[in-house]
This record gives sequence, structure tokens and C-alpha cells, in this order.
Amino acid sequence: MSTSTSAVSFRQYGGNAAENYDRYFVPTIGTPFATALLDTAGLQVGERVLDIACGTGVVTRLAAQQVGPTGAVAGLDVNQAMLAVARSAPSSGTAIEWHEANAESLPLADGSFDVVLSSLGLQFVADKASALREMRRVLAPEGRLAIATVGPTPPLFAILEEALGRHVKPEVAAFIRAVFSLYEPQELEKLTSGAGFRNAEVRSKTLSLTLPEPREFLWQYVHSTPLAAAVAQIDDEARAALEHDVVAGWRTFTKDGTITDDICIVLTTARK
Ligand SMILES: C[S@@+](CC[C@H](N)C(=O)[O-])C[C@H]1O[C@@H](n2cnc3c(N)ncnc32)[C@H](O)[C@@H]1O
Repeated sequence: MSTSTSAVSFRQYGGNAAENYDRYFVPTIGTPFATALLDTAGLQVGERVLDIACGTGVVTRLAAQQVGPTGAVAGLDVNQAMLAVARSAPSSGTAIEWHEANAESLPLADGSFDVVLSSLGLQFVADKASALREMRRVLAPEGRLAIATVGPTPPLFAILEEALGRHVKPEVAAFIRAVFSLYEPQELEKLTSGAGFRNAEVRSKTLSLTLPEPREFLWQYVHSTPLAAAVAQIDDEARAALEHDVVAGWRTFTKDGTITDDICIVLTTARK
């Protein structure tokens, strides 16, 4: 399902959720995904790289380190709050250009990048076919695409989705479904080839995440995502019930004060 029609989407991401995203989500989840994506992309010194749906810039900054000062790196996101955090973070070496725009319509010249990357973003874009056509348009001939998405929903997040539906609203639980909505190899291959890319390949890999203890992780995740605003609207009793059910459900994943969970990263690669 598309988040453009669901109640909770990254378009309403505001308040200090972007700062929390960078503080909590990026070290525990964003960085392992970014590292796996960059391993797959095989960036070379001097390449021109675009990071679509860059958020606070974890992939963008790692790409800048890898291509070095002779390369060029740009990050693009639709959300102003995420970009504000991205712009404020120090980056080493290569200067990064930041663009506030929708992935469906890139304000960038044809053929201006060697590599287009995107981590944990394409599943939130309403018109994925347009976004992929735009990614292909801005790539130079033979340019490479590498996209990371996630799914299917691991049991840890299925528990959260269920509790959000029960104690907040079904439309709010839909956010979790959107996160894990784009992982089927056939769908990803069709979308990528349909946008004109060649050699589309989709591979899944298991990442083992280490997360804080249940109560802490629950509230870090809620306050790092667009869930924050929706959960702020429920009363104390509903909030306590949400916490109770999630913490109880997550107990089996917890050992020595941390949650460990396996999650599937889906890596889609292709060439112009
Ligand atoms: C889970 S965050 C991922 C951010 C970053 N890539 C990372 O790995 O940390 C999803 C990002 O997708 C962005 N996004 C959602 N829809 C978008 C669109 N149509 N165009 C550009 N960015 C979009 C959101 O604003 C958000 O920053």
C-alpha cells in the first residue's frame, strides 16, 4: 500500500523525529542497511553518486567517503526536516549537494550520475515506476542502480503492527506494512525492467540487528518515525496498553538486556 494515502507517512515527518531518527534509528538499523547497500554498489573513487530518499544522509556520507574528493555526491529527499539534519552533520572530504524534491520528479540533469543509490526509501514513494524512470534518466550510459528495501515483515515488527492497530488505529499500523511492502523479487524486477533498466537482479540477505531492550526500543522507534505524531494523540491508558503488549511480545527476542533480530534486506541492482 502507498503511504501517500495512509494516515501516517514520511511526508508528515516533523517535530524532532528527524533528530531522533539520526540519533536512534541510524546507528541501530540505518547503518547496517547502508553498509550492505554500499558493499553491493561497489563505488569507485571519482564516481558521481546520487542518494535518493537520503533521509539524514547515512548512505550519502558513506558514499562521499568512498568516492573521495574527486567524486561528486548528492542526496535528495522530499522531507525538509530530514534534510536539515543531513545538512548539519559534518562530512569528510567530498562536498555533498542536498536537494529537497520528490523522487518522482528529479530536478537534476539527464546523464549526470554514475551510480544511483537508495536505502529504505522506495517503498514509501507513491509512484515507483516514475521514480525508477527518473533514476534511469539521471544516470549516464552504463550507470548503475542499487536499491535496498526490507521485508517480509519480521515477527518483531508484526507484534508492533498488531499492537498499533489495537491501541492506536488501523491506519497507523499501516505505516509498518508500508515499511515492509516492497520485497517481492518479481515485483522489484518488473518495476526496474519496466523503467528501462538492464540486468535487473534482486537478492535477499539476512542482517542480524542488535537493538536496545524492548521498552527503550519501542519508544525510540516511535519517536524516530512518523508514528510519533499519531501515538502522541492517544491517551495515557492506551499508551500504557501499547507499551505493555509490545514489551510482552518482544520478551522472547530479548537476552541480556538487548533485542536481537534477523531482518531481510532486499538488494536490487541494475544497469542503464
Ligand atoms: C526510512 S527513511 C530512509 C532514509 C535514509 N535513506 C536512510 O537509510 O536512513 C525514508 C525516507 O524516504 C523519504 N521519502 C519518502 N517518500 C519520498 C519521495 N517520494 N521522494 C523522496 N524522498 C522520499 C522520507 O522523507 C524519508 O527520509
